[in-house]
Amino acid sequence: FEKMPVKMEVNGVTHSLSVEPRATLLDILREQLDLTGTKKGCDHGQCGACTVHVDGQRVNSCLTLGVMASGKKITTIEGLAKGDELHPMQEAFLKHDGFQCGYCTPGQIMSAVACIREGHANSETEIREYMSGNICRCGAYPNIVNAIQEVKE
Ligand code: FES
Repeated sequence: FEKMPVKMEVNGVTHSLSVEPRATLLDILREQLDLTGTKKGCDHGQCGACTVHVDGQRVNSCLTLGVMASGKKITTIEGLAKGDELHPMQEAFLKHDGFQCGYCTPGQIMSAVACIREGHANSETEIREYMSGNICRCGAYPNIVNAIQEVKE
């Protein structure tokens, strides 16, 4: 396939890229931009490890083609902290042990931030429903809910 030009802003930096039409946003972030904080779990929309924000909306980057992200603003886990200062959700995950192995954590945190921003953090049930696309094999769910509830307050 012929490569296509794609321009996207990632964590505040504009990138002009040449991408294969079939390349997913996930692969572009990890392989072309070296932003390996975003994880590949299932690569077909089942696990949420690849969650990023595109124009403020959370998406599974494994289900998004790079060409679809053309002209958009992407935020990845690397874009949350401000210098040495962690994002409040990152702090809360640390405080509440919202992870064990940590593989799903970047995706969990990106979803958790969106959960509050979109107003779906009003109860444990609502949080669990919103977060249901983010699988944690270690079962850190109660701690993840606690972290989200603390940031919400
Ligand atoms: Fe995208 Fe699993 S890697 S949902």
